[in-house]
Amino acid sequence: MTAISREGARRRTFAVISHPDAGKSTMTEALALHASAISEAGAVHGKAGRRGVTSDWMELERSRGISITSAALRLDYRDHVFNLVDTPGHADFSEDTYRVLAAVDCAVMLIDAAKGMEPQTMKLFEVCRHRRIPVITFVNKWDRPGRDALELLDEIEERTGLRPTPVTWPIGMPGDFHGVVDRLRGRASRYTRTPGGATKALESELTAERAQAELGRAWQQAVEEIGLLDAIGADHDQKTFEAHESTPVLFGAALSNFGVARLLDALVELAPAPAPRPDVAGVARPLDAPFSGLVFKVQANMDPAHRDRIAFVRVCSGRFERGMVLTHAATGRPFATKYAHAVFGQERTTLDEAYPGDVVGLVNATALRPGDTLYDGPAVAFPPIPSFAPEHFAVARARSSGKAKQFRRGIDQLDAEGVIQVLRSDLRGDQAPVLAAVGPMQFEVIQHRLAAEFGAEITLDRLEYTLARRTDPASAEAVARQRGAEVLTRSRDQALLALFTDRWRMRSIAADHPGLTLEPLIADTTR
Ligand code: G4P
Repeated sequence: MTAISREGARRRTFAVISHPDAGKSTMTEALALHASAISEAGAVHGKAGRRGVTSDWMELERSRGISITSAALRLDYRDHVFNLVDTPGHADFSEDTYRVLAAVDCAVMLIDAAKGMEPQTMKLFEVCRHRRIPVITFVNKWDRPGRDALELLDEIEERTGLRPTPVTWPIGMPGDFHGVVDRLRGRASRYTRTPGGATKALESELTAERAQAELGRAWQQAVEEIGLLDAIGADHDQKTFEAHESTPVLFGAALSNFGVARLLDALVELAPAPAPRPDVAGVARPLDAPFSGLVFKVQANMDPAHRDRIAFVRVCSGRFERGMVLTHAATGRPFATKYAHAVFGQERTTLDEAYPGDVVGLVNATALRPGDTLYDGPAVAFPPIPSFAPEHFAVARARSSGKAKQFRRGIDQLDAEGVIQVLRSDLRGDQAPVLAAVGPMQFEVIQHRLAAEFGAEITLDRLEYTLARRTDPASAEAVARQRGAEVLTRSRDQALLALFTDRWRMRSIAADHPGLTLEPLIADTTR
C-alpha cells in the first residue's frame, strides 16, 4: 500500500442530512467534542466554545435560521481523519446541497425521534439515492418523548426504500432513555448524563443481570424487540449498506452526547473510505495517482474582513501540497495554490497537505466554478455536477442607476458561485437580467448579498414563468413569438432556455409547432 492509499484509507468524508431543528448543529458540536477538531482554533471546550463550530456566519442565515455556507470540519478520531461537510439546511438550496453531496462518501441521516422522516430529510435523502451515497441513520432526541422505535423503522423503510438494520437498540422508550444494546458488538451500555452536555456522556457496560435488576421493564422490552429484529434478520450487512440498499440505524441524543461516540465508531468501522473516482469517460483515477480534485463549492466574502473568494475542493486522488501548481481542466490554465485553508464557518487554518477525502479551501480562486476539476500530472476531468431546473424567475434591477457597476459585478460574482442562474436577452438588456432559482429563498440571499457585499440595493420583479426547457436557435425563434413564453441565454454556459408560464402552455406551443427542441433540464450540467 502506498502512503497515499494509506492516508486515503483512514479518511471518512461525510455530511449530516436532516430537517431543520432535528439537531444537526447540536450533533456537529457533539462530534467535535468527541473527536478533536484538527485546527488550533477549532478545539472545543464547554458550551461557549461549542458555538464556535456552528456555521451561521451570515446575518441572513441567523435571522432566517438557515445555513447556506458549506465547508468542512476536520476531526481526528481513532487515528482517522473525518471531513464533515456542511450541507445547507433549506430545501431552496437543494442545488447547492447536490454539489456538496458530490464531495462525500457517506451521509448521516439525522431523524428527530418524535417527528420521523420530515420533508427536508426526504429531499436530501433523494439526493443521496440519486448519487447512491450510503446512509447511516441516527435517531436523535431519544431523551425526549417520541415515537415507538419499531414504528420509526417501518417509516424509514417505507419512505426511503432502505432496509433498516439497527446497530444499536434503545433501552427505554423515548423520554426514558437508559442506554443501548449494541447488536454488532453484542453488549449493552448504560448512559449517564453530564450537566449541560458540555462533556462526554458517561458510558458503563451493562450486564444482563444488572440491566434486569436495575431497569426491569425497559430492559425486557428491549430484549423482546431485539428478538424480533434477530428473527427478521435486520442485521447490518456491509455490502447492501454500501450499495445503498440498507441503512445501519443508531439511537441517541446529541444534546446529552448519548450515542455520539458510537456514531463515530460506526463511521470508522462501516462508512466507506474514499474510492477511486470515475472521470467523464468512466475511467476511475486510482487514489495514488497524481493529485486530482473536484470543486464542489465556491463562496465569496465569507469573511467580511478579507472579502475573498474561496473554492472548496474535494481531493479525489494523490497528495495535495500547498504551493503546488495545478491545471484547471476547464481552461487548461495553471492554477497556483499558494493559499490553501481548512475552513469551517468563520474559522480558517492553513492547510499544508491533504489526501483523498480531504477538503481544501483555495483562496482567491476566481477562475474556479462548482463542478470544475483541478489536477496534477496526467489530465483528468470529473463529470460535471448537474444543475437543477429553476422554477422561480425574477427580473433584477439596481435601485439606483449610479450603482450599475456594482450591480453588474455582484451579479457576475453570484453567478460564478452558482448561487443562482442568470439569464439574459437582448430584449431585456444588460441592466435587467432574469434570475432563475430552484427555491424562492435564493432570491433573498441574492438581494441580501448584493446589498451587503457589493453595495447594490436591488428590486426584484417576479415573472409568471414556472418552467424552463433547453432549446436551440431554430426552436427559440418560434417559441419567442408565443404568448406565455420567452427565450433567454444562461450566462454560465450560454445555453438557450425557453421559459413557460406552465406545463399546459408549453404543451400547446409544442403541439402547434411540431419538431421544437425542448429538453428537460434536470440532467443539465454547469459547464
Ligand atoms: P438543527 O441544526 O438541525 O436546526 O438543530 P439544532 O441542533 O439547532 O437543534 C434544534 C433544537 O433541538 C435545539 O433546541 C437543540 O438543543 C435540540 N436538540 C438537539 N438534539 C437534541 C437531543 O438529543 N435531545 C433534546 N432533548 N434536544 C435536542 P432549541 O431549544 O431550539 O435551541 P437551544 O436553545 O437549545 O439552542
